[in-house]
Amino acid sequence: MATIYREACAPSAIAAGDCLSDIISIKDLTLEQIQHILQLATKMKQERPTDLLKNKIIANCFFEPSTRTRLSFETATLKLGGNVIGFTSDDATSIKKGETLHDTIRVISDYADLIVIRHSHEGAARLAADVSTRPVINAGDGANQHPTQTLVDLFTIQECQQRLDNLSIALVGDLKYGRTIHSLVQACMLFDVRLFLVAPPALALPESMCDALKNAGIRFSFHQSLEEVIPKVDILYMQRIQQERFQQNSQAAMEKPFILTPNMLDKAKPNLKVLHALPRVKEIDVGVDSMPQAYYFEQSANGVFVRQALLSLLLNGGVA
Ligand code: CP
Repeated sequence: MATIYREACAPSAIAAGDCLSDIISIKDLTLEQIQHILQLATKMKQERPTDLLKNKIIANCFFEPSTRTRLSFETATLKLGGNVIGFTSDDATSIKKGETLHDTIRVISDYADLIVIRHSHEGAARLAADVSTRPVINAGDGANQHPTQTLVDLFTIQECQQRLDNLSIALVGDLKYGRTIHSLVQACMLFDVRLFLVAPPALALPESMCDALKNAGIRFSFHQSLEEVIPKVDILYMQRIQQERFQQNSQAAMEKPFILTPNMLDKAKPNLKVLHALPRVKEIDVGVDSMPQAYYFEQSANGVFVRQALLSLLLNGGVA
């Protein structure tokens, strides 16, 4: 079930919601499909339905650590009347006896109605979707993609700025290894945005993604100073250095994070909001938390509504 929407699935049919099968990469979604998911998430937040996943079982298969993604998927499922099974590392699974990811996913897809997978290997979610007899959602595969986080980010940007076009967005921190950033950059190509890329040299956005931005006609520039870009942007998106993705003796490990402190926001535009997929390590001083610009905890709370929308869409075709 690797295809996100079945071939020849018209937008009107998507609106009816009966074509969605897997969520593996943000690149697989059209603008109309993303807009439809965000509309459903808004409905989830406003109407708080309770029984859309009755008698459904969601398998949360987390081969890598997670707080927000796993627990928001669980919360989303439980609040919609569904049930959850799963694991939080492969330590207690038969992977430890030598079972392959292929066989593990094939078996679980006979137990559950939908599989959510996080894995350290890029492409693991795509493989899972190819093997599974049930829908699969990618909850992060290595440094590659984190599509549900990006849908949460888009939902949150729309909520706090009332639009997704005509925005200036600064992406700050580890732009090389951050899967959240990679998915978000790809989503930005569908909108009229201007990007400010603020990263240490060894953690710059991969060249292939810069080329893709150019081809998509997205304006972007490189910066080494957070203070320089803050007065120019509507969204300041902070990203931690992804220590788990590189060798500790590499150049990347020598880079220092950009740290946002309250006084840096003095010259911010009135509408500026600070986002962060979290977990935060040092990139945002806790003093920023109480400032009006801080919106990262609202962002993580929105994860439940967006994931409710996705589960409901994949299993029921949307909201009845
Ligand atoms: N944003 C995010 O993916 O957080 P977790 O790693 O805690 O799931």
